[in-house]
Formats: sequence, structure tokens, C-alpha cells
Amino acid sequence: MAFNLDFLLSIKLFEILTLTFLYYIFHFYFNYYTRKNPLPGPFPLPIIGNLYLIRGDLFDFIQKNHQQYGDLFELWVPNRNIYFNNVNQIGKLTQPNTKSSFTTQMKLTKIFQEYIQTFGFIILNDDYESWRYYRKLLEQTISNQSYQHSLFDVILECFGEIQGHWKKLGAEHVIDIREWALRLLFDILIRTTTGENLFIMTKYFNHLTAGPKVHIAKEIDEMGEGIDQQLKNGAKALFYFQYVPEVLARTVFWWKTKKYLQISKKAQSVYNKIIEKRKQEIRNEDSSNRKVDVLNLLLNANLSDENESPSSKSIRLSDQEISIFLFEIINTSILTTSNTFAFTVEHIERNKKVKEKLLEELKTVFGDDKNNISFYKLSQLKYIEAVIYETLRVTPQTLTIIRTNNKEVDVSNIKKNSNLSFGTGLRICPGRFQAINMLKTLIFLLYLNYHVELVDPHSPIKNEFTFVNICLSGKVYVRPRNAE
Ligand code: HEM
Repeated sequence: MAFNLDFLLSIKLFEILTLTFLYYIFHFYFNYYTRKNPLPGPFPLPIIGNLYLIRGDLFDFIQKNHQQYGDLFELWVPNRNIYFNNVNQIGKLTQPNTKSSFTTQMKLTKIFQEYIQTFGFIILNDDYESWRYYRKLLEQTISNQSYQHSLFDVILECFGEIQGHWKKLGAEHVIDIREWALRLLFDILIRTTTGENLFIMTKYFNHLTAGPKVHIAKEIDEMGEGIDQQLKNGAKALFYFQYVPEVLARTVFWWKTKKYLQISKKAQSVYNKIIEKRKQEIRNEDSSNRKVDVLNLLLNANLSDENESPSSKSIRLSDQEISIFLFEIINTSILTTSNTFAFTVEHIERNKKVKEKLLEELKTVFGDDKNNISFYKLSQLKYIEAVIYETLRVTPQTLTIIRTNNKEVDVSNIKKNSNLSFGTGLRICPGRFQAINMLKTLIFLLYLNYHVELVDPHSPIKNEFTFVNICLSGKVYVRPRNAE
């Protein structure tokens, strides 16, 4: 009897599930066929939209659709997205003023929000008021002269360390420029913003070397735990949460979702530990000794409970907010800048004339004295700057500039804007000058100090578009210039 009841119940459940699914399919296609302004594009399936058509990377997919459907088409990835492929079409989407109804980048699913608790302050924040506030805070922080000088000094310091590691690995060791740059940039940015050295680059060296390892103190090793996983998985995870439908992320791929959420939480906890450590130091320290870095600027505002000035009030952040803010400054920089660095080296090495001109510029600006280096020389490196911009044009970091709109607007008749490597309009990349300066510094340090040679100069540059454009080639031999 009990068996029969169970059996009947399971049939009912099956019927309910089937009916619900059929209703969902009907609803999906009803919405699809009655959508406003239908545009050409491939036929979507329920839940996964056009994702079933993606073979290879997203760039190939969008390019194929561009060839087939022209400048204006729609893709369901997995929801409806309209693609404008002609610069003349996008002016209204990118107006640099608040009247624009395209102030938001992408709409986030709940699970994506859960993952990017960390990014939600600026880059993917879809709340206009809070976005404006945090963006201003970021712009003020990174445009500060002392921040820029200290960033430059830290780059020199970290580059010195990388030279030590490469020397120990030997001239025959293949240097994967992107892998090194990911860790180098993390070390640079965490030191500039918080004064902490987590030795992520040294850990990578220890992982590669067959010789003696560099000792890292236990508490520092523990403090940086989780960063390497975040650096390795960051782009893949963002891509995953952007495109995998939430219902599949929570069910079919739950294990993958869990892995990415854990990695993100662990990396975020590194920033919490740094803040806790600094607060402890501030409590024990004489205030005249306080370091001047981004973390202290943010924390001092937080700690000044008594005699609070109006300016400190305006940047009062909780520890959690400071942690997210730091995470955002660092992580928005690393992926894009490290890939651009690797692509730039690839392009320089494949273009003999470009390399000659670049070395000529280095000779003119620095002469024969490698110690003749200063922040002010960066502005003289015009040719290197042009090479970086050209790299960004030929191998851009982002495939699309995403804007979400809820109002009805006519988006035709627009003015031209051809360099979109850093986006445009209200949401243009606030770190673009910092990125160019960091890249210029890294390129001049590399070429001033090393002969660079591609491991595989004859095969084409390999890349993969995920959340950003990943440089899969970028493997080089480096030989110190002073070893001649
Ligand atoms: C080569 C390096 C970089 C490239 C190619 C790049 C590219 C971009 C692009 C295309 C956008 C979207 C803009 C839009 O939607 O119109 C963006 C946004 C952003 N970038 Fe960068 N970026 C780079 C480096 C950096 C650095 C170093 C920082 C750190 C300060 C940074 C911070 C941000 C932030 C916070 C946003 C979000 C802006 C907003 O939504 O208001 N980026 N970046």
C-alpha cells in the first residue's frame, strides 16, 4: 500500500514538473515572438538561449554572427543582448553625462552578485548613487601624486625582485610573461595600497625552481593563502557567472559554482586579515609613525571617532567596505594589465622595426645609465606608449562595452569615437592612465635590462576571450643585457 502511495505521488510530481516545464517553454517563446523591435539573430533555446551555438571562444561566435547578420543583431547569452557593431551606432549608449539612460553595465544574477560581492562597488555596480560615490573615491585615490610616485617606486622594487628570481632560474628557462606579470602586479598593487608584501611572486618562483627555495615566513605565507587560486581562476570565474544561466549554476554545475565562490571568499579574507593587522598596528603605534598609503587613508577616516571632521565623515567606510574597495582596485587592474603586457611583448618581438625604434627611444631617454630612471621620464616614452595603445587596438582586453537600459530610447545618429580600448562615456575605465603608466614602466624595465626572445616566433599569437582577452602565448627567453 505504502509503495502504491509513493508511486502515485511520484507520478503527480512528474506531471507537475512536466507541466511547469511546458509552461516555461510556452512563456519563453511567447515573450520571444512578441518582443519589441525584433532584430535578426540565431534562434534561442529556453534557459540557455544561444549558448549552445558557441564553439571556440566568444569572439569567434560574435564575429560569425556579425558576418551573418550585419551591424545590428541580437544574441541570447542567455538573455537578450543587442549588439551594435558600428561606432556610429553607439554614441547615445556612451554619453559622458548623467542624462544618459545607460549608466549601468550588465544586470547581475543573484549568484553573480554573490560571487562579486567583491566587485560590486564600481565596475559592476548597477546602483547609480553608490557607484558615483565609490568611483569618485577611486579616482581621488589613484590620481593622487604621492600614490602615483609610490606606485612607481614599488614597481622598481618588485622588478628588482623578479630579476633576482629570473637569474636563479637561468637563461634557458622559459619565462611565461603573463603568469609572471599576474603575480608581479599583485605584489606591486598590494604593496602600494597596503604596504604589505605577500610574496606571491616568490611563491611562484618557489613552485618553478628545482634549486633552493626562498624562505617565506609562516604568517606571511598564511596571510596570502588563496591569492594564487584567485589569480588563476579569476577570469574563468567571471566568464562563468556572466554566461552560465543561474538555474544551471545552482544545479547541474553546483560543484563548479561552489569552487568559485570559495576561491572568491578566501581571496577576500586576505584583505580582511590585512585590515585587522593594520588596525592592530595603529592601536599600538605612535600616530606620528603612521604610514601614508591607501589603506591608512581609508582606515584613519574610520578610526577618527572623536573630533570627526566633515571630510573624514564623507569617506567613512566599514572594514568590510574597505576590504572590498581594495579588492576592487587590485583585481580590476591585474587581469587586463598583465594580459596587455604579455600581448605588447608578443607584438614587439614579432615586429623587428618596432623593436628597433623602441630600443632607440630607450637609448635617447635613458642613455647608457640604467640608474637614470625616474617617474618623470615616463612622459618622454612616447613611442612605447603608442605601441601599448596599438596593442590594445589589435588585441583588445574587452570584446564588448556593456550597457543596460530600461527606458525606451532611439539609439541611431551618433558621433564617431574610435578608441574604445578603455570603454567610453560615464563608465570609461578610471584606471586607464595608471594602466598605461604601469605598462610603460614594465616595458622599459624589461627592455632596458634584458634581451628578449620569443620561444615560438613562427606560430601566431594565441589568445582566448573569456571575461577578458587572455594571452596564451607570451613565452620568452630573457638574457640580461649586462651579461655581454
Ligand atoms: C590595460 C589595462 C586596462 C584595460 C584595457 C581596461 C579596460 C576597461 C574597460 C574596457 C572598462 C569598461 C568601460 C566601459 O564600460 O565603458 C573598464 C572599467 C573599469 N576599469 Fe579598467 N582597464 C584597465 C586597467 C584598469 C586599472 C589599472 C584599473 C585600476 C584602477 C581599472 C579600473 C577599472 C574600473 C574600476 C572600471 C569600472 C568603471 C565604472 O564602471 O565606472 N582598470 N576598464
